[in-house]
Amino acid sequence: MSPDVATDKAASSASAPGLSFEDITLTYRTRRGLHQALGPLTLRCDDGEFVAVIGPSGCGKSTLLKLASGLLTPTTGHIRLHGKPVSGPRRDVGMVFQQPTLLPWKTVHENVLMPLKVMRSYRSSDNEKADRLLAMVGLSKFAQNYPYELSGGMQQRVGIARGLIHDPQLLLMDEPFAALDALTREQMTIELQSIWQASRKSVLFITHSIPEAVILADRVIVLSAGPGRIIHEERIRIPRPRDLSSMATPEFASICDRLRRLFVH
Ligand SMILES: Nc1ncnc2c1ncn2[C@@H]1O[C@H](COP(=O)(O)OP(=O)(O)O)[C@@H](O)[C@H]1O
Ligand SMILES: [Mg+2]
Repeated sequence: MSPDVATDKAASSASAPGLSFEDITLTYRTRRGLHQALGPLTLRCDDGEFVAVIGPSGCGKSTLLKLASGLLTPTTGHIRLHGKPVSGPRRDVGMVFQQPTLLPWKTVHENVLMPLKVMRSYRSSDNEKADRLLAMVGLSKFAQNYPYELSGGMQQRVGIARGLIHDPQLLLMDEPFAALDALTREQMTIELQSIWQASRKSVLFITHSIPEAVILADRVIVLSAGPGRIIHEERIRIPRPRDLSSMATPEFASICDRLRRLFVH
């Protein structure tokens, strides 16, 4: 057996981390030449862990998420989910974007079912599942409404329900609350925490808000300016469930302060 095969076998054992980036880089090919957007970077996320990634604009956060989803392939290095290489879009991954991008001509309920329809795995029993998810995000009453009848926060909750409809092991969220007003954003943050606690997914959450990262995450990863590398990792031990009053504690303030200092030069 070649050493490579032995390594692959070891990597796919039960102890393999949920999601792992092993020494990856990503270089875009542009008309003006090659542009290294990310890495080298090594990151391992445990099953059920909530990992937040923060970093300056353009440092490669969205690139990192596209790599995790299989939409992009790393230029060098490997990405594995439970030891298996991530290549091509995957069914066991859910995505939530900055804009919910709902289909305006479909009802809320139909929008939630969209990923199953696209993957051609829709069954009539999935209607109930969509109902359950809409209840979980507090939108039962709006199932038959159209997106334009909903506020921005409600549309984003539809996006979250849609991201969970195929029961992915891993939820990838790219600045999902960035377009929301401050109050809605805080509420959504607390709601996302309860959704995560109820669904036990692994979450990789991109944000440029330090407080949002700290209130949500088990671990906050800080990236440098592009090409993004990990410059700091912070384990957040604030007890759960966390709520808005957790944000008023000295512990919360001192963590945010420590993280903020990383960006002051
Ligand atoms: N498809 C692409 N082609 C070329 N360059 C890209 C592409 N997508 C992103 N980039 C560049 O890669 C860098 C990282 O982008 P991105 O991952 O979107 O950063 P972030 O999400 O942290 O703002 C930026 O310099 C951006 O201009
Ligand atoms: Mg981005």
